[in-house]
Amino acid sequence: MDTLAAVILAAGKSKRLRSKIPKVLHPIAGQPMICYPVEAVAPLGVARLVVVIGPESQGVRQVLGDAAEYAEQSEPLGTGHALRQARPLLEGQATTILSLYGDHPLTTTDTLRRLVERHAATGATITMLTVDSDESMGFGRIVRDAAGRVQAIVEEAVATPEQRRIRELNVGIYCFQAAWLWPSLERLPLGPVGEYYLTDLLALAVAEGQPVETVAAASVDEVLGVNTRLHLAQAERVIRERIRREALASGVTIIDPPSTFIDKGVVIGADTVLYPGTIIEGRSHIGSDCIIGPYSHIVNATIGECCRIVASTLEGAVVEDGVSIGPYSHLRPGAHLGQGVHIGNFAEVKNSRLGRGVHQGHFSYVGDATVGEGVNIGAGTVTCNFDGEKKHPTIIEDGAFIGSDTMLIAPVRVGRRAKTGAGSVVTHDVPPESVVYGVPARAAKKRQEE
Ligand code: UD1
Ligand code: CA
Repeated sequence: MDTLAAVILAAGKSKRLRSKIPKVLHPIAGQPMICYPVEAVAPLGVARLVVVIGPESQGVRQVLGDAAEYAEQSEPLGTGHALRQARPLLEGQATTILSLYGDHPLTTTDTLRRLVERHAATGATITMLTVDSDESMGFGRIVRDAAGRVQAIVEEAVATPEQRRIRELNVGIYCFQAAWLWPSLERLPLGPVGEYYLTDLLALAVAEGQPVETVAAASVDEVLGVNTRLHLAQAERVIRERIRREALASGVTIIDPPSTFIDKGVVIGADTVLYPGTIIEGRSHIGSDCIIGPYSHIVNATIGECCRIVASTLEGAVVEDGVSIGPYSHLRPGAHLGQGVHIGNFAEVKNSRLGRGVHQGHFSYVGDATVGEGVNIGAGTVTCNFDGEKKHPTIIEDGAFIGSDTMLIAPVRVGRRAKTGAGSVVTHDVPPESVVYGVPARAAKKRQEE
């Protein structure tokens, strides 16, 4: 029976990116590059998936975890040498080997499936993906004979001027007959720059009279190999466009797609409208019927249904249904806003829980606080949570009214339905139903008795 295994080569150096970060871990639409080929291969139902990693790309293990097995290439001696490292794991385990490069984030499952199906149908020894393009992108050129039969792949670096003009390029995704592949890899010649080129397998197969087939990719947008920062930006653009199309197809309105950026894996409910200048990143989840933007930045946030987030930044925050925020407010990690909360402009909330229906209209900071239902937080209120060394909590109970410009010197508690007067500096707990004011704040009743 035919069994398919896949190998993704990801052990190369990424000199051309000029980066400390290994190439295959550079994020594209918020996810490391290596995730994309792995995701494209997954629906093919491969029996084994091996990723070849090198000393610099060990981080791939953390990113992919159990989704793959790993082979080590201790020295980057070329793509042929890299594939050879998978031999001990796969020899005798699969009849067909699908080999891909880890720096190809744009290839789709459909294209891989076409390649695998063609390989199975023709019984070729090698079936390779090609693309026709006027721009060479540094790809190897496919050299054919007068009868149109593939003769070899010639790398750009060693191509003659005439060969450089060839428009048919090697994408770098191949299906091999495993029984031929493993021993043949040992016979690869050492190339001119001290590397074993996987592409030299073609000439080897041709010399032996082995059948070689090609499958053409539909468009260059499917096959880009990321070698430079320019390629990285091009890949980013293509992936972001695909994500926007998926969102549109699932019922999200995007007023101006080119100015709207959505990370891979973000979930957005139907009938939500994204206004221009909106960026939604990380593990964000937005419910249906929301209005987001213009100019909102949502990072790892969870937003319920029917919310309105105008020109504001939400990071690591949770917002329940019917919340309105902005313009110009900032929710930081640990902010949790209950149903129907209203946050106006220039307000910041950090590591705080705001109960249902809280109003925090303008110019205020709430940090390390627990705020009950229906509390009003006046303009200019500050939870003074930091004493220079430690952070302290503030508790504001249900129905309390915090007057404008109140300073709450934490740790402090304001009781149920208590009120603080404008400009109060609250240094002690405020009993329920009472009124305090002044600097430092005192109970209004006591003052009247004086
Ligand atoms: C390769 C192909 C070229 C093709 C192009 C498509 C070869 C010799 N050339 O060139 O024909 O048109 O891809 O993008 O195969 N890698 C290792 N170990 C190594 C070297 C590379 O694992 O020792 C990995 C890299 O991490 C990378 C992939 O193999 O993911 C491709 O390597 P790269 O150096 O980018 O090859 P190209 O020069 O782009
Ligand atoms: Ca490459």
